[in-house]
Amino acid sequence: MKNLFVLGITFALGIVLAFNAYAAGNAAKGKAAYAVCLACHGADGMGNKDLNSPKIAGLSSWYLERQLKNFKAGIRGADPKDKYGMQMRPMALTLPDDQAIADMAAYVASMAEKKVAPSVGGDANAGKAAYMLCQACHGPTGGGNKALNSPKLAGQQDWYLVRQIKNFKAGIRGVKPGDAYGAQMRPMAMTLANDKAINNVAAYIATLK
Ligand code: HEC
Ligand code: HEC
Repeated sequence: MKNLFVLGITFALGIVLAFNAYAAGNAAKGKAAYAVCLACHGADGMGNKDLNSPKIAGLSSWYLERQLKNFKAGIRGADPKDKYGMQMRPMALTLPDDQAIADMAAYVASMAEKKVAPSVGGDANAGKAAYMLCQACHGPTGGGNKALNSPKLAGQQDWYLVRQIKNFKAGIRGVKPGDAYGAQMRPMAMTLANDKAINNVAAYIATLK
């Protein structure tokens, strides 16, 4: 009886460990697969404005995994108006399964971040007032909040933030079935009345560390 119990526990533990081993990404394997990504996002993951590719270094692995899965599934990057998302989508399709995505996310999340130069030229003071709403989910310093599924914004290229806010507003992102988190973000983007308000909030986010 006792032996059976021990066997049961060992078996259950084995499943838990096996599951964890599957879920956790292997950064070394991700690094090898990153060869496909560096042409656009750079060897350091800092992005390339000329290629419209954002910084991805240091984003949280859970957010990276979600976006790579969204691109693969066509939840993001499949709208004909989403010029830049459509460039990214075939790249996500090179990752064959969830394990490859977890490996990639583990590697990209581990990449050291560097400072980015502001480019949008909005009024950061005016943007600060608008950011009061955003901080409820993205945090007062823009560090993101896993419990609220909200990614880090601080340290991101401001031109990329502007593009995404516009995409959410225009229904290019955050409207597809299955995009529960994008759907939470979309009404928030709607609170920014015009391009000026978007530039202002991006300029404020650029001041966050
Ligand atoms: C041909 C250029 C190109 C290549 C190669 C490429 N990407 Fe991208 N990637 C982009 C562009 C452009 C965007 C911005 C899409 C948008 O504006 O919505 C992007 C966006 C992303 C995002 C979303 C970032 C965010 O904050 O939501 C992630 C994650 C990403 N890429 C990861 C990767 C990975 C991993 C690879 C390699 C498997 C890769 N990319 C290869 C061009 C590329
Ligand atoms: C109710 C919570 C919530 C609030 C408030 C909120 N967001 Fe978000 N935001 C999210 C979530 C969740 C996502 C992730 C969407 C996804 O996974 O595609 C997101 C994503 C984003 C992105 C995309 C980041 C990337 O790397 O592609 C930007 C930019 C952004 N939010 C800016 C803002 C701004 C600016 C405000 C204030 C006007 C704001 N958010 C308010 C929840 C929120």
